[in-house]
Amino acid sequence: MNKPVKLVAGNWKMHGTSADLGEVAAVAEAARALTGRVDVALCLPATLIHRATVEVPGLSIGAQDIHMADKGAHTGDVCAAMLHDAGATLSIVGHSERRDAHREDDSCVKAKAEAALRSGLGVILCVGESDAERVSGLAVPIVTEQLRASLPREGATADGFAVAYEPIWAIGTGKVPSVEDIAEMHAALRRTLVEELGSVGQDVRILYGGSVKASNATEIFSVADVNGALVGGASLRAADFLPIVEAAAAAR
Ligand code: PGA
Repeated sequence: MNKPVKLVAGNWKMHGTSADLGEVAAVAEAARALTGRVDVALCLPATLIHRATVEVPGLSIGAQDIHMADKGAHTGDVCAAMLHDAGATLSIVGHSERRDAHREDDSCVKAKAEAALRSGLGVILCVGESDAERVSGLAVPIVTEQLRASLPREGATADGFAVAYEPIWAIGTGKVPSVEDIAEMHAALRRTLVEELGSVGQDVRILYGGSVKASNATEIFSVADVNGALVGGASLRAADFLPIVEAAAAAR
């Protein structure tokens, strides 16, 4: 397999206003210097996407969610064409916070991924088990089944589609699975991607997400089939995020 460079994507969640665009600029500048060694993206609140792409050109700016319909009576939602118009190049779909708080099931996540890919937006599709599911010993079959059921059936390419394994119990908690557990899950997700997508599945990047920090990034990036990271809290400040980006560039 011709290994792609790692992808490090920040997920700002519901944080950030125009006062924080300096952080985006600092990330963009460092990412430019590492072109070809690591891919970097920031998934910003929808309200900041256009400002960021205008004021900080050259960095991949993404959304955190997308509606599955092209347009219509969906108060408060944002569709692919609107994200394109704002300058976004990708979107997260199926984050556990949306699966939970907005009751998004696998078929909804799949439809969102397909809508994004159809429109030419890249996708980071999130999957992951709860604490109880991890304790039950069934995390691998549960998460691979979640991937199978949320996987877009059209439009997935190695460049434009990535999967993020994010154990729910590791998000924002400072807890991280053992490298053995990450390796086991990523290998299982790789097998599932190949079974479902054929040769494309071999090259789709599988990111790890959940309490990634400068202090654990190098170890996580050394795990087979970890092709990058989805970073929440540590992506809000360039000073926290850039050491993770640099660790990904060095791990190649
Ligand atoms: P965290 O969040 O890095 O703050 O744990 C990760 C995520 O939710 O994508």
